[in-house]
Amino acid sequence: MALIFTAQMYSELKILLFFQCIFSTLSFISNHQIHPLDSLAPSELTQVQTIVNNSIKCSSSCQSLSYHYVGLYEPDKQIVLSWLSDKHLKKIPSRQAFVLARINFKNHEIIVDLNASAIISSKVHDGHGYPLLNFAEQTAANMLPITYPPFIESIEKRGLKLEQVLCQSFCVGWFGEEKTKRIVRELCYYLDGTVNLYMRPIEGITVTVDLDEMKIIGYRDRLIVPVPKAEGTDYREMMQKQPVNSPIKGITMLQPDGPSFSIDGHIVRWADWKFHLDFDMRVGPILSLASIYDLEKDEYRNVMYRGFISELLVPYMDLTEEWYYRTFFDSGEYGFGLCATPLVPAIDCPGNAVFLDGYFVSQDGSPGKLQNIFCIFERYAGDMLWRHTETAIPGKVFTEIRPEVSLVVRMVSTVSNYDYIVDWEFKQTGTIKVNIGLTGLLETRADIYTNTDQIKEEVYGTLLAENTLGSYHDHFLNFHLDLDVDGCENSFVKAKLQTKTATDKSSPRRSYWTVVSETAKTESDARIHLGSSAAELLVVNPSKKTKMGNNVGYLLHPGSVVNDLLSADDYPKIRAGFTKYNVWVTPYNKSEKWAAGTYLDQSRGDDNLAVWSLKNREIENKDIVVWYNVGFHHVPYQEDFPIMSTISNGFELRPANFFEHNPVLKVKPLGKVKWLNCSIECHLHFSSTS
Ligand SMILES: *[C@@H]1O[C@H](CO)[C@@H](O)[C@H](O)[C@H]1NC(C)=O
Ligand SMILES: *[C@@H]1O[C@H](CO)[C@@H](O)[C@H](O)[C@H]1NC(C)=O
Ligand SMILES: *[C@@H]1O[C@H](CO)[C@@H](O)[C@H](O)[C@H]1NC(C)=O
Repeated sequence: MALIFTAQMYSELKILLFFQCIFSTLSFISNHQIHPLDSLAPSELTQVQTIVNNSIKCSSSCQSLSYHYVGLYEPDKQIVLSWLSDKHLKKIPSRQAFVLARINFKNHEIIVDLNASAIISSKVHDGHGYPLLNFAEQTAANMLPITYPPFIESIEKRGLKLEQVLCQSFCVGWFGEEKTKRIVRELCYYLDGTVNLYMRPIEGITVTVDLDEMKIIGYRDRLIVPVPKAEGTDYREMMQKQPVNSPIKGITMLQPDGPSFSIDGHIVRWADWKFHLDFDMRVGPILSLASIYDLEKDEYRNVMYRGFISELLVPYMDLTEEWYYRTFFDSGEYGFGLCATPLVPAIDCPGNAVFLDGYFVSQDGSPGKLQNIFCIFERYAGDMLWRHTETAIPGKVFTEIRPEVSLVVRMVSTVSNYDYIVDWEFKQTGTIKVNIGLTGLLETRADIYTNTDQIKEEVYGTLLAENTLGSYHDHFLNFHLDLDVDGCENSFVKAKLQTKTATDKSSPRRSYWTVVSETAKTESDARIHLGSSAAELLVVNPSKKTKMGNNVGYLLHPGSVVNDLLSADDYPKIRAGFTKYNVWVTPYNKSEKWAAGTYLDQSRGDDNLAVWSLKNREIENKDIVVWYNVGFHHVPYQEDFPIMSTISNGFELRPANFFEHNPVLKVKPLGKVKWLNCSIECHLHFSSTS
């Protein structure tokens, strides 16, 4: 969903800059050597702009050049790996950019080589769909209704004040239309006494804007229902009138001796982990080359080549004229990275966090900075990594405890009303845990109802407050997980837990379960509906075994399983493709990055994971990519009004016969901590013997 870039956001940015000064001692960025997977730096983005601009021999028509995406066109994996193995001898592979631009109202796909200062590939995409929207065109479209006489009349008819109306651009989806124009719908909200515009939708009006012509081409005012009242909708602290019963006192995590991680350029090192972190305006955080040091082998072992959120679908379940098309792709239509919010130190992330910036390009191709969009911090919440108390040995009691300390990389993307909290958490055990938190504001529908007793029709949601329906909807986030477990050639194994009947009459038991493993040969073997049967999903390296003879592997451990409930012939499902199964595996292909395709706005599902997977390519002992969906069915409850508390889902990647034994045996109890502002010295004993 669209973004309103307001002066308020800029003033908040200034506050953040102020915070930055305090935290500047924590800046770890040094003058680093460029890495082949580094996102394009601002100077490189400017170079892309110059090269592309110059290539379009500027006549009067050059006004219609607009940029929608610029990102690193990553070098081939083999080139990156060979650079890594011999980096002191080799040059960085050519730096290249992938550009999605609209030139004279056509979709252009351009690859720019920055080393050669030239365009090396340029084609017009004349298939379906359009690239992601940029901020400038959304802002321009958002201004149109309030100067459009029929809209002004509609606002007056409702007895509302025009200056309190705010509009946002929403993509329209695709529902079988033969021809499509590049259009958006403007949805308008009412402030007047609150900042929570999403609880005050102005219902019943459909405003259609042609983005190429930047004008309103369709208008319909179908019904008038009351705008829900402002009272009780404001979530700001200063607006809360009720006293708090028993407030929580100050609480923080202290690291008086500083953090245990380091950041060199984009490489983060912590405990035994090492990975590359970067930002992309479409997908947000990209984690690459995650590897873990194995003490026994005295080497870093590869786990994941690249992992990121490849797409995010949010379909609403409301069939009414103003709602049915709300089936949003937050990455491909709006830019999940582009919507990243500056994180507030000591609030969005704990006080021990450090912050990193990201870059995007604006409509004219010039680079813009997104300040403090990543934070990195060590998490310690008083939990145990492992423990045991041994009381069986006569005369002795042993207690051994190790603290659970992990490293978190966080980004928050505020896609209009929703805030998505993305956490990639690295654990000392070798586990990578991904958690998605949803919070922010529901998209609500205004209606006449003030009590559920009055409702005699399908309203597609929960009555949350007077005149306010919280609409049923889903969120499906698809993760692109290019695991390279101890090397590129891997296989995908389904280890099914099967119930067996006991036939051996010498045992009184009637049944047991055992593990029956199947290695997926082709893509069709690895399209998986979770939830129907118990299975462990593993990525193994068939040519690497532990000393015990087990294949070295990593386990994909799903969070709570959420299946897409829409019918197979419904448009959002066809367009997304990826929601047909929970898990997919494909052979690595550099151009298969975004699970629902490149051009999502009004896409038709002809270029997505489901289509690629139909090739049914071989995936056994190959360089493979796992695609996993994290889903949410959201049935709103009254507690979600006027703002919703965070709900979470995610998954883990856990070592499975990867190490010879428990790798955290060597973890030490926490060191002695000298509290900064405290006269007492606290000796933390996590290991004690009595
Ligand atoms: C490409 O440009 C980068 C940055 O200027 C440089 O470090 C690298 O050596 C160049 N690579 C090649 C293949 O010319
Ligand atoms: C590139 O082209 C855009 C669109 O025509 C224009 O707004 C911008 O100023 C140009 N920038 C440069 C550096 O040529
Ligand atoms: C890689 O993916 C693209 C896009 O799906 C496809 O056109 C191309 O044929 C694929 N290459 C291989 C080797 O499968």
